[in-house]
Amino acid sequence: MAALWFVLLTLLHTAMPATPDIVHLEALKAFKDSITGDPLGVLARWTSSHHHCSWPGISCNPSDNSVISIDLPSRGLNGTISPFLGNISTLRYLDLSSNSFRGTLPSQLGNLKEVSWLDLGENLLGGTIPSSICNCTSLTYLSLSINRVTGS
Ligand SMILES: *[C@@H]1O[C@H](CO)[C@@H](O)[C@H](O)[C@H]1NC(C)=O
Ligand SMILES: *[C@@H]1O[C@H](CO)[C@@H](O)[C@H](O)[C@H]1NC(C)=O
Ligand SMILES: *[C@@H]1O[C@H](CO)[C@@H](O)[C@H](O)[C@H]1NC(C)=O
Repeated sequence: MAALWFVLLTLLHTAMPATPDIVHLEALKAFKDSITGDPLGVLARWTSSHHHCSWPGISCNPSDNSVISIDLPSRGLNGTISPFLGNISTLRYLDLSSNSFRGTLPSQLGNLKEVSWLDLGENLLGGTIPSSICNCTSLTYLSLSINRVTGS
């Protein structure tokens, strides 16, 4: 059994392309840049000395290193939500709930065609729900509770 796992892991490893996905990397950097407060230092390891797939809160598809999950609830993060997140077309799971995100929801989040879980609840977001969110055709869970967001 252990030998089988070794073979599988080796196969997965050799299937990984050497070059990181630049678009996803740039999007994550822009996301970090739009965060002004990180009291727990969660994003301190989001640096070029680690591949972005190993950054805290990030999960990638091991077969192609595309980012599939950003999971950062209750981290005390203060800032705005970067529209660059909409460039991570493979994102399936986004949980930024219970932080101090301010500003409005970027309409670019509507570009996330694969996203099925979107939790931005318990933040300080305002404005309206962009109609483009309705374009997230895979969406099965959306929470914007305890914000000041209004819909139409
Ligand atoms: C978030 O950052 C803004 C601007 O840097 C600051 O005015 C505000 O007090 C911060 N809020 C929290 C909850 O830390
Ligand atoms: C990503 O998104 C931003 C803002 O939505 C945009 O300005 C940028 O050109 C996009 N493309 C890439 C490849 O970063
Ligand atoms: C939804 O996506 C389609 C095709 O990608 C686009 O033409 C349309 O403008 C989008 N709708 C919204 C509300 O963003």
